[in-house]
Amino acid sequence: MTAARPALVDGVTALRGAAMTFAGDPFAVPAAEALAFDPDALVVMRDGRIAAFGPAAALLPSLPPAATIVRYANALLVPGFIDAHVHYPQLPIIGACGGTLLDWLEHYAFVAEQRFADPAFAAATAEAYLDECLRQGVTTAAVYGTVHPGSVDAVFAAALARGMRMIAGKSLMDRNAPAALTDTVQRGYDESKALIGRWHRRGRLAYAVTPRFAPTSSPEQLAAAGALVREHDGVYLQTHLAETSDEIAWVKQLFPGAQDYLDVYARHGLLGRRSVFGHGIHLSDGAWQRIFDAGAAIAHCPTSNNFLGSGHFRFGDAKRAPRPVRVALATDVGGGTTLSMLATMAEAYKVARHTGFGLTPIQAFWLATGGGAEALDLAGKVGGLTPGHDADIAVLDLAATPLVAYRMQFCESLSETLAVLMMLGDDRAVRATWVAGRLAHERRPA
Ligand code: GUN
Ligand code: ZN
Repeated sequence: MTAARPALVDGVTALRGAAMTFAGDPFAVPAAEALAFDPDALVVMRDGRIAAFGPAAALLPSLPPAATIVRYANALLVPGFIDAHVHYPQLPIIGACGGTLLDWLEHYAFVAEQRFADPAFAAATAEAYLDECLRQGVTTAAVYGTVHPGSVDAVFAAALARGMRMIAGKSLMDRNAPAALTDTVQRGYDESKALIGRWHRRGRLAYAVTPRFAPTSSPEQLAAAGALVREHDGVYLQTHLAETSDEIAWVKQLFPGAQDYLDVYARHGLLGRRSVFGHGIHLSDGAWQRIFDAGAAIAHCPTSNNFLGSGHFRFGDAKRAPRPVRVALATDVGGGTTLSMLATMAEAYKVARHTGFGLTPIQAFWLATGGGAEALDLAGKVGGLTPGHDADIAVLDLAATPLVAYRMQFCESLSETLAVLMMLGDDRAVRATWVAGRLAHERRPA
C-alpha cells in the first residue's frame, strides 16, 4: 500500500480507536499530567490538520453526515513519529559491520555517499527511504544529504510528493574527506543558498544548514555556515557533537583555540534555538548549560551509539534541573541499525539503564513525538493529536505479532502497553500511517 498513494479523502475524515497524545512533558510533570489518553477516541481531520480530539461519544454527534470514519480496533493511535537525525544516503550500508566511528566513516559512509553524485541513484534511495519511514510510522525527520545538492533535491522532491514535513540539508565538507565528497567554502555556501531558495518553506519542508561535523569543515566553512543561518529566517542547523572520544581529541587538535567541542560551533554562530546536535554523549556540565542557554537540542541516537561503541548518552545530565535540555530521539541510520522509532525507544531505554537512569515508556514515546517536535522547534505543528496539529498519525497494532498479542493480555496500564510496543514492536506494529490527513501506508496482513 505504501507504493500506491491513496487519493485524499475529501472533507472530514475521523479516526476512531484508542488514542494517546501529550498534555505536558513527562520529564517535567508526573505521567498522569503529561498524558492524554482515551480508550475510544475520535481524531477528526480536516484540510490536513487535526480539527478535534476527544471521546468518540462526545464528538460523533458533531461530525458532518458525510464524514468518513475509519475505525481501528485493538490499536493505539499516536502522533506520527519524529526521527531527529538520519543519513538517508547511508541506507545502502545500514548494518555494515566494522570499526568505531572514524574508521566506519572512512570505510563505509564516505564510500557509500560518493554514489549520490548520480541523481538517479539519489532519487531511488530517497524513495526507498521515505517509503520505509511511512512503514515505520515516521512522518517527520531531520535528514542529512551528502555533499551533492542533488541528494537534497531528491529527498525533498520525494517528501513533497508524499506531503511529509521534512527537514534536510546538504552536507558541508571542505577537508578530511575524500576529494569526491568535498566542496569549498564558496561552493558549499552557494549550493546551500540555492537549495534554501528552492525548498525552504515549500509545502511542509524546511532547510537545515548541515556542516557534517567540525573535523570535516575548515573554520572558514563553519563561518560560512553561520552566515547561512543568520541570513535565512527559520533555517535549522544540524551537525554532530561529542559522539566519541577519538573525535573529541581530533577536534581539540584542529581547533586549539576553542574552549571545547561545543565552543567550536558557538564561535562560528552555530549554537542557537534551531540547532540540533547529534549524539552529545561526552559533554561537560558547562557545555550542557550552554546548550540549554541557547535553547538548542540534542538528537539522541541509541542504536548508532551501541553499534559503533560510541558510549552511553546520559539522560541524567541532559535533563538536570534547573537546565533541562530538549532531547529528541533519532535513528542515525546508517550508523543506526533501524528506522523503527519503536526499536529506537527500546534501545534508548537500555542505554539509559546503563547510566542508572530509568527512562519510562511514556518518556520514550514523548521523545519520539511531542519531545521531538519541541526539540525541532515544531511544537504545536507535529508530535501531537490535539487541534491545530498536522494530521500525522501512526496507528499501532496491539496484536502485531503472536508474542505481542500474547503479552498484551497481561498489560494492566497504558504504560505497560507502551512498554510492550516499544520492546517488542517494529514496522510490524505499524498498522497504518496518516500524513496530513491522508492514508499514506497501510500494512498488508502477513
Ligand atoms: N559524524 C560525522 N559524520 C557522521 C555520520 O555519518 N554518522 C555518525 N554516526 N557520526 C558522524
Ligand atoms: Zn549522524
